[in-house]
Amino acid sequence: MVNFMIIKVSKSSVLSGDIYISGSKNASMPCICAALLTKQKVVIENVPDILDINNLLTIIKKQGVKVKRTNNTITIKAKRLKTKVLSDLVETLRGSYYLMGAILSRKNKLKIKYPGGCNIGSRPIDYHLQAFKELGFKVIEEENRIIIKEIERTPKDITFPKISLGATINVILLTSTFSKEVKIINPSLEPEVLCLIDMLKKMGVSIDIIDKQLIIKGTKKLKGITHKIIYDRIEAGSYIYLVGAIQKSKVYIHNAPIEHLHTVIMVARKMGIIVYKKDNVLVVEGNKGIKKINLLIGEYPFFPTDLQQIITVVLTKAKSSSTIEDPIFPNRVLHIKELKKMNAYIYEQNQVIHIKPSILTPAIIYATDLRCAFALIIAGAITSGTTYIKNIDYLFRGYENPIKKLRYIGVNVEIL
Ligand code: EPZ
Repeated sequence: MVNFMIIKVSKSSVLSGDIYISGSKNASMPCICAALLTKQKVVIENVPDILDINNLLTIIKKQGVKVKRTNNTITIKAKRLKTKVLSDLVETLRGSYYLMGAILSRKNKLKIKYPGGCNIGSRPIDYHLQAFKELGFKVIEEENRIIIKEIERTPKDITFPKISLGATINVILLTSTFSKEVKIINPSLEPEVLCLIDMLKKMGVSIDIIDKQLIIKGTKKLKGITHKIIYDRIEAGSYIYLVGAIQKSKVYIHNAPIEHLHTVIMVARKMGIIVYKKDNVLVVEGNKGIKKINLLIGEYPFFPTDLQQIITVVLTKAKSSSTIEDPIFPNRVLHIKELKKMNAYIYEQNQVIHIKPSILTPAIIYATDLRCAFALIIAGAITSGTTYIKNIDYLFRGYENPIKKLRYIGVNVEIL
């Protein structure tokens, strides 16, 4: 990814107004790929206009698929589906790996580049490839690409050693056209997975969740449907902590998927952030003094790893020390080096992040991934003076109209 954009952020006080949350990035990508499981027309609504999604759609078009975008609605018709996915765009996003399960659900061979994604520590895809092998495919890993060939589709139970959102989704996509039942043991049951399951059920697949296991009974005749993507709980969480960090603010967050935000809201309140629901709108009114916390991150419904960097920044405002443990991505720590340039007193020890009370000072810093970009904007907005953030392109991979939304509620931010 070529990074050239720089923004400047100055201290912003008393945020106010309205934010409208967009559709979920991490639910859109699997659902877009699920549309490839049928030759019929599929309409997907509430799809955010962000770089990762647009790159995925460009890749899919290269596979001979008809794709049309009208604002946040995507129409897909995969009458044709080529099996060589060798565009360089595949390496620019993580979600391109869903093309494996989707294409192999209809085709008996595939050549595809390795997925890309945020630099948040090691991100192997061994669970995905192991599952394909167990389900009757030969997997050949070459330097820059993977070749997968069907030997004999073998419906069997798949057990993941650790909960993986990506691997769960890839197995669901692949086995949705299997004629016999497949069980996934220790699957991810994040809201994004449930959004995909809702869609596939409408397309004709039978999927049950029993004792936290997924039971998939596929069909060869998936039909075209219309499906609406859930709203983005990570985008909503990002704005809750931004507004929560700035006292006397009052911002109305519309379309926040409150039912998916219980832990995020509970932790915010524990930190002294004022957040409540009013007529189905989430209202955030800054804080009554940020308090320290000791947080353990985990799979849904625990506190999400994708808000770890964001909450780290806000905890620099606490009067005493906090700790964060992130066993999902323990090496998601590149933001610490950047925050230290702003005089933050933060360090990582034995995979625990320690955050001491800090008076941040302005600096020239670098975004290192999508969520880090948003976290550094919060750092700039709570710091006297002007902070310059380079490599901010990452932000546009996962947030829709971020600069417009931020400026609309009073954040002093501009693209240089
Ligand atoms: C998805 O990544 C999300 N990305 C991530 O969001 C999110 O942080 C993550 O799930 C966890 O919720 C997308 O949806 C595109 P995993 P993914 O497979 O699928 C290990 C964002 O900011 N693992 O659930 O890559 C892995 O290393 C992004 O929007 C293996 O070891 O995550 C990790 O420790 C960043 N082998 C854990 O499992 C595998 O084959 C969970 O990873 C697969 C995973």
